[in-house]
Amino acid sequence: HGYDAPRPNHAQDRAAEQAVELAVDESLPIPAFANEPDTNAALPANQAWARAAIATATPQWLAAQAVPPVVAEDEVDALVARARSAAAEWSARPAAERAAILYRTADILARRRGHLVSLAAAEAGKAVAQTDPEVSEAIDFARYYAHRALELDSTAAAFTPDRVVVVTPPWNFPIAIPAGGTFAALAAGAAVIHKPSKPTPHCSMAVLEALWEAGVPRDVCQGVFPDEGPAGRALISHPDVDRIILTGASETAALFTSWREELRINAETSGKNSLIVTPSADRDLAIADLAHSAFGHAGQKCSAASLGILVGSTYDSKRFRRQLVDAAASMVVDWPSNLSATVGPLTEDPSDKLLRALTTLEPGESWLLKPRKLDDTGRLWSPGIKDGVAPGTFFHLTECFGPVLGLMRAENLNEAIELQNATDFGLTAGLHSLEPREVRSWLDRVQAGNVYVNRGITGAIVRRQPFGGWKKSSVGLGSKAGGPNYLMLFGSWADRAGQV
Ligand code: ALA
Repeated sequence: HGYDAPRPNHAQDRAAEQAVELAVDESLPIPAFANEPDTNAALPANQAWARAAIATATPQWLAAQAVPPVVAEDEVDALVARARSAAAEWSARPAAERAAILYRTADILARRRGHLVSLAAAEAGKAVAQTDPEVSEAIDFARYYAHRALELDSTAAAFTPDRVVVVTPPWNFPIAIPAGGTFAALAAGAAVIHKPSKPTPHCSMAVLEALWEAGVPRDVCQGVFPDEGPAGRALISHPDVDRIILTGASETAALFTSWREELRINAETSGKNSLIVTPSADRDLAIADLAHSAFGHAGQKCSAASLGILVGSTYDSKRFRRQLVDAAASMVVDWPSNLSATVGPLTEDPSDKLLRALTTLEPGESWLLKPRKLDDTGRLWSPGIKDGVAPGTFFHLTECFGPVLGLMRAENLNEAIELQNATDFGLTAGLHSLEPREVRSWLDRVQAGNVYVNRGITGAIVRRQPFGGWKKSSVGLGSKAGGPNYLMLFGSWADRAGQV
């Protein structure tokens, strides 16, 4: 993402809202797609904008925002029936009309950037600097899927969309991921039942409100909280639900699959991601990328770097370690009211796995930088770097989802790739090397959905880096989110003569 001009202040936001243009112009050519720029935090006007936004993000303010209604088990049939009948009308509309609604949704989200940033701060403790690119990504999803829907509509094949899609996003990207699955299903012509992640219903609701205001009928996109237990199961395993889009833990995907044999599910799940640094790398760049990929949003990204696999003299270099520790220690760890924070609090209390990673060492490991609990909430931790992680151990193979990075030594690139591929997962992976032969060899063998050379391994950009996993990081035949084929997941294709 590039950086753009000063953001409007909140008063101007509201004035612009009233001017939302609701007319659909079907004669427009397919607009070119361009990524939405992030906020340029260096501009004083934008710092003032962010301060004003974050000042509103109090618990009382949050409590006054809308959340989806709770549905009980015996209400699930009616909920799905409503979606199913609404889908017939929605899919019959011209693709141009659905696309126009998504373009308007993007514009509404763009105007509400300050509101969305405040919601993620108040609800998930997410730092402004971490949420801002997420808002850009949500806007990108709306415009890109609208754009692809128009392009696909202009091809010679006929598409029959799914009728009802259940979207179950996670809390760690509380704006972009709820937006992505929902927008894609709607662009394809399906109706959506959106079940927010438990910690972040307000963020989900803000995305749905933008859709409704842009013109998506309420029954075409319903937001609901199933009651604990039975209602969730009834929804996920409902025979009239055509597809589940899940972003979450592998265990959740396995649970959903166990509920219904013929469940059609596309799930983006866990990862144990690593970044290899070879002696040929640009070390300064590698260190910055490693630190940001490991500790941004306190490591609570499925894409985060959990391991640095350092080859030969890179591992042995005292200077490399000192610089890495300095880089990690220089990241500001704080609650979102501190606008400089990039490492915020944990959104939930730490899991047993994460506590183990933060507080204990396995044989052979030592702390290069010991994580510290910074306040009484138990949720704010400074970054930790553990050295000497051995092959096959807990920290080599287990996703811990927090601000801990482990370092491993590899004798050469081959060994590094073996360590990188040894986990069950395959979501993101990185290589820092300025040696083209190393890069080619790595690209041939690395087992991950998203592979990055000389770049951090988080923050995939819509269209540029379509996002999706491999091995246990992905369930269901998956084309990647934010990529050209993603919409095709949501239905089936036939040529105009009806040949599937
Ligand atoms: N799409 C998110 C990223 O790339 C998960 O970091």
